[in-house]
Amino acid sequence: MASPAKRIIVTGGSGQVGQHVIATLLSHGHDVLNLDIAPLPPSLSSKVHTLRTDLTDSGQVHSALTSRFHPACPFDPATEPLNQIPDAVIHLAGYPRGMIVPDGEMYRVNTLASYNVIEAACRLGVKKILVASTVCVYGPPYAEGDMDLPCFPVDEEVDTNPMDVYAISKVCVEKTARGFARRFASFGVDIYVFRIAAVIPPGEYERFFTSWRADPRDHKAVGWSYTDAQDFGKMCHLAVLKDGLGFQIFNATNDDITVETRGSTATAFLKQASPSVPFTREMGETEAPLTNRKVKELLGFQQDHSWRMYVA
Ligand SMILES: NC(=O)c1ccc[n+]([C@@H]2O[C@H](COP(=O)([O-])OP(=O)(O)OC[C@H]3O[C@@H](n4cnc5c(N)ncnc54)[C@H](O)[C@@H]3O)[C@@H](O)[C@H]2O)c1
Repeated sequence: MASPAKRIIVTGGSGQVGQHVIATLLSHGHDVLNLDIAPLPPSLSSKVHTLRTDLTDSGQVHSALTSRFHPACPFDPATEPLNQIPDAVIHLAGYPRGMIVPDGEMYRVNTLASYNVIEAACRLGVKKILVASTVCVYGPPYAEGDMDLPCFPVDEEVDTNPMDVYAISKVCVEKTARGFARRFASFGVDIYVFRIAAVIPPGEYERFFTSWRADPRDHKAVGWSYTDAQDFGKMCHLAVLKDGLGFQIFNATNDDITVETRGSTATAFLKQASPSVPFTREMGETEAPLTNRKVKELLGFQQDHSWRMYVA
């Protein structure tokens, strides 16, 4: 049965992750408005309007969240009423790592844009808010030097205590989301945070895995885990449809560890690769160390894009 179509605002939809999220949402029949300072590529701009919005400006965000989705001349209030509140906001915009701009500017944009979007969405009565975070909050990806994960598998209960500014900015975003979810709980607001791993867009598997396979220890920093861009779009679609979970954090990862365990197991590989890290439970034979068990159990996620389908 087809799922109900929703009106969804995506922020940062022009970026690497956002383009695939938008394409997936469109494939499920949703209506989308993109808020970004950059345009969408032509393949999407004919279907989705981009309202150029600087999300670090609170006034722009409040106005944009009540915007119409489609330009028209003249507007037809019967087709698209003025001041409609979207069914969901998916907040992806921001800097996806350090070293793009100076650290302080990255921290300012990531925290302020997220604050503005979460605050405006809650105050305007949006009932579903999805927020992009990162598995960098677990520490290793941009640490100073080699760092072990705290345990295997890493689930969403593990303490987050990163040292790099990008991950620290995302810890702040997660805390902001949690506080607003608590504050607006009686209004029926759900806020789900996705901790995304290294994102692999379609056609990029060979490139990623060729570099990773040279030495499996090379992808220790990313926790031997990844996020397929299209599968992440599917997670967003499922999250938009799933109401009533309040505040949740999900590891938005795919099922499989990124090394070949043929004849062995993920556990055996990890015991050898990170011998001092404790195990908190028995892991599946090929389970990703940054486990996605929760997103499967609570949102019913099933991956479509195992890396094994694309890497010879
Ligand atoms: N790509 C990854 O591997 C990865 C991994 C983990 C988490 N994430 C998270 O996913 C989200 C999207 O990442 P991405 O890889 O698509 O990044 P990206 O840089 O490709 O896209 C980010 C988008 O945000 C927009 N943006 C930046 N500042 C803005 C502002 N002030 N106002 C409006 N728009 C603004 C940019 O124009 C861009 O289109 C980010 O929150 C990132 O932290 C990405």
